[in-house]
Amino acid sequence: MGKKYIVIGASSGIGYAIAEKLLLEGNHVALLARRDKILKSFADRFNQDGKQLALTIKYDSNHFDKSGTVFKRILKEFNQELDGIIYASGIMPKIEPDEFDTEKDLNMMNTNLLGAIAFINPAASYFQEKGSGFIAGISSVAGDRGRRGNPVYNTSKGGLNIYLEALRNRLAVKGVQVVTIKPGFVATEMLKDAQVPDKGFLKPISAENAADIILKNIAKGKEEFYVPARWGLVMMIIRNIPSFIFRKLNI
Ligand SMILES: NC(=O)c1ccc[n+]([C@@H]2O[C@H](COP(=O)([O-])OP(=O)(O)OC[C@H]3O[C@@H](n4cnc5c(N)ncnc54)[C@H](OP(=O)(O)O)[C@@H]3O)[C@@H](O)[C@H]2O)c1
Repeated sequence: MGKKYIVIGASSGIGYAIAEKLLLEGNHVALLARRDKILKSFADRFNQDGKQLALTIKYDSNHFDKSGTVFKRILKEFNQELDGIIYASGIMPKIEPDEFDTEKDLNMMNTNLLGAIAFINPAASYFQEKGSGFIAGISSVAGDRGRRGNPVYNTSKGGLNIYLEALRNRLAVKGVQVVTIKPGFVATEMLKDAQVPDKGFLKPISAENAADIILKNIAKGKEEFYVPARWGLVMMIIRNIPSFIFRKLNI
């Protein structure tokens, strides 16, 4: 008998790959994102021969006031049963080195951080009551330090790390697993215009590979991890570079 999950940001990239793996294992998955046509054709692959594994909901993470209602609707469809949620929605618009654009910045904060809080809060309340389940948020290596390239992307992911850590400290005693996922480079739409190494240690991994690592680590009960693990070493070095040196480096 399959389990029941929600993936927010399931229309492409890492969220899509995670949802696909969960569906292929025979689980029920609620697929959320704005591009609902993509979600519908994705779901069609898993809703045939009398099976209805995928539920699709057109959802904009920036519409915070809708999160509670949407969460309740999914619970109703799932007969009040839920085993885990993964918040994968995220944006990283291109920011020029001398650009300070409040509209772009607030949009990033809304999708990457405030939208996560708005959706995870009702889920936290549900899992606290249930005494089991997991809440996973896709953060980033970018949340480990304030870099010059995209200050508010760093801020949104750093804020997400702290929020998830605080939630973990609250909910661990209730039997709920709260997971902070920190990917390095993953070859998705988000990176299509970014300059990333095409070979070597930091070469992007595929979304399918990232999803595999993420789901295996969650199943092992891990609470915070880099994807792939080698980024843990890279970020340990980066976190320990003194500020007066770090500001001179073009990273
Ligand atoms: N790719 C990387 O190298 C990398 C590295 C570290 C962390 N990450 C993080 O991984 C997560 C997934 O990104 P990805 O690489 O898989 O990129 P992606 O392919 O661009 O996927 C982003 C997902 O977020 C959804 N999304 C964006 N804005 C949304 C909104 N307002 N409401 C609802 N959903 C929204 C998109 O769906 P719709 O557009 O259909 O709404 C899409 O499903 C992000 O949080 C990203 O920051 C990525």
